[in-house]
Amino acid sequence: MTHSSPDPLRILVLSGSARTGSLNTRLSALAARVVAARGALTESATVGEFAVPAYDGDLEAAQGVPEGARRFKEGLERADAFIVASPEYNASLPGTVKNLIDWASRFRPQPFNGRHALVMSASPSMSGGNRGLWALRVPLEHLGARVYPDMFSLAQAHTAFTPEGLLADATLQGRFETTLDDFLNLVEAAKHYPCAKKAWVEYLGERPAAVIDRAQTG
Ligand code: FNR
Repeated sequence: MTHSSPDPLRILVLSGSARTGSLNTRLSALAARVVAARGALTESATVGEFAVPAYDGDLEAAQGVPEGARRFKEGLERADAFIVASPEYNASLPGTVKNLIDWASRFRPQPFNGRHALVMSASPSMSGGNRGLWALRVPLEHLGARVYPDMFSLAQAHTAFTPEGLLADATLQGRFETTLDDFLNLVEAAKHYPCAKKAWVEYLGERPAAVIDRAQTG
């Protein structure tokens, strides 16, 4: 299915690695290519383009949320959905990715809330960085992102790409595209046929109070 006119899907594609030659940036570039081929509009970036200091409440109180997080937040707001290709660091997500999520979560309206997300990873290891994605899901789901159930983890990623940037294994390339197609179909349905109310409430029984209030409905 294509997702072109009259109101094309807008997808933000983020690589969770700022490294030159990053495998996750290569995977995110491939994702952006497939998504664009389906008629959606893409914006691509790496976590390094949204450089932010380590989260510090005093810094936030004194200077507000840093510019890098604001630009990331604005990228999320322009998008109907986002895709993150993130490395796995020590069986979890990189601190840089978590730190960017933490800063961006300080905005109201909170930009992850109700936004569809697809997570993927690439690693030279046999697990393809898949454990990191389970960790990445936690803050995203906590923030109300609709994280797509299927994930894509590219094992032995250092040998997995053709010089043209496709996956050398044609079957794997097909599965990658199918995952993206299924995700885009869901985003398309959510964009054009909204029927569910959105709500982000950390604990349903939480007593409303300004100091702890993280509820957002609409
Ligand atoms: C890694 N790497 C790694 N790989 C993996 O599959 N599981 C892991 O737990 C870890 N842990 C880890 C920790 C740290 C601090 C580093 C620097 C690296 C290896 C990692 O997957 C590899 O370096 C990837 O190439 C990183 O992704 P990019 O930068 O190529 O996108």
